Amino acid sequence: MEFFDSHSHYNDEKFKADREQVLNEVYKSGITKLVCAGYSLESSEKAVEIANTHDFIYATCGISPNDIEEIKTEEDLNNNLKKLEPLAKQEKVVAIGEIGLDYYWNKENKELQKQVFKKQIELSNNLNLPIVIHTRDAISDTINILKNEIISNKRGVFHCCPLNLELIKEGLKLGFYISFAGPITFKNSKNANEVISIVPLDRILIETDSPYLAPEPKRGTRNNSANVIYMAQKIAEVKNLELEQVANATYQNAKTIFEL
Ligand code: NI
Repeated sequence: MEFFDSHSHYNDEKFKADREQVLNEVYKSGITKLVCAGYSLESSEKAVEIANTHDFIYATCGISPNDIEEIKTEEDLNNNLKKLEPLAKQEKVVAIGEIGLDYYWNKENKELQKQVFKKQIELSNNLNLPIVIHTRDAISDTINILKNEIISNKRGVFHCCPLNLELIKEGLKLGFYISFAGPITFKNSKNANEVISIVPLDRILIETDSPYLAPEPKRGTRNNSANVIYMAQKIAEVKNLELEQVANATYQNAKTIFEL
């Protein structure tokens, strides 16, 4: 059985010492494709470098709402985008991301976050790439931007999708994929079953967000892509399917949205 981890961060410091070894083990465990996501200029560069040196790895490039502290003016933003664009044009880059809004960690700069988000959606439109969205405690602003302001890009993924019914219903209506991460396996996530059951199998991706958010029963450890199987198991259980059906569908869905 093969699995596709749609979102991970092997560009993170936490993998610096043993990245190659972890990636070898991940591949051998059946994770035969994965996406390494950028969240800043530097981490996007690193993601591209990792993708360029591993056949089974793809990259995304983008500036997340939690990595914009250096952007103070319109000019700063344009300079950042100018540096992002050539990176995003590289062959193994499959999406602009992770981008979005995060009012949980940053409440003070909402307007700037929106501007950075919109500008990067524009970039994705110009490059004809899907977007990978990070959204936290910012559901209505995220939906408003996708619905009302950016008309051409209707392709993308809600990464580590918050287990919020309104967001998921709106996201599905807009044509987006829903990527489930560790929280669907957490014992305290009350509505995981309800959320999983409303997302059709042909719109689901699975991800680890490694090294963060390790699923049950690995909570609290450094996460790696081999754990994506726990998300597939949870979905199979809720939807009453064989694990292999979930593995195959999520693999195919990831290939479709990332055009592989
Ligand atoms: Ni992430």
